[in-house]
Amino acid sequence: MNKPRPCTGIDRQQHYGHRGAVFWLTGLSAAGKSSLATALELKLLDQGYSCYVLDGDNLRQGLCADLNFSAADRSENIRRAGESAALFADAGLICIAAFISPYRKDRTNARRACAAGFHEIHVKADLATCERRDPKGLYRRARSGELLEFTGITAPYEAPESPDLEIDTSRSSLEDCVSRLFDYVVKHYPLSR
Ligand code: ADX
Repeated sequence: MNKPRPCTGIDRQQHYGHRGAVFWLTGLSAAGKSSLATALELKLLDQGYSCYVLDGDNLRQGLCADLNFSAADRSENIRRAGESAALFADAGLICIAAFISPYRKDRTNARRACAAGFHEIHVKADLATCERRDPKGLYRRARSGELLEFTGITAPYEAPESPDLEIDTSRSSLEDCVSRLFDYVVKHYPLSR
């Protein structure tokens, strides 16, 4: 039997009808990253795209279960997230990665791991808005001193200086934010069938 040729990016593109890519959502806790990511995934799947969401919740359950929230552990978390996202994109999927990813240096490394198909999206909401939302009560616990090294309170967040796209969830509805993100994805990665 002849040795089969290796599968290429073109084969995968033909299979899925689009190229693989990474849409990296960065922002404070409760800025709306995961809500946006899951709503975007549903909308893209509905249109025929193949995609998958990676976020702090699913990675920290398994692959990153050994990491906490020190600066060094967050860097390692983002390194693993970036490498995982790169594999999903190489497999031909639209990977939506939603991580606080507070350090610019770590996001730059994630961009490097993912190469050309990396798009940095700043999911923006001011601290007061995030703190008012506080869906998991974490800001309250951080303010009371019960939770240490909490982003925006006792740990830094370095906002992107020139993101590919900025979405302010404190000014628009979730639906409008998802639409903007969806339009951005479709513009850069049109479906070929
Ligand atoms: S990151 O900083 O390493 O990028 P990641 O996105 O994986 O963080 O996880 C963030 C989620 O973990 C938050 O949305 C929040 O629910 C939870 N969390 C628990 N402790 C902290 C903390 N000290 N700082 C920020 N988020 C925390």
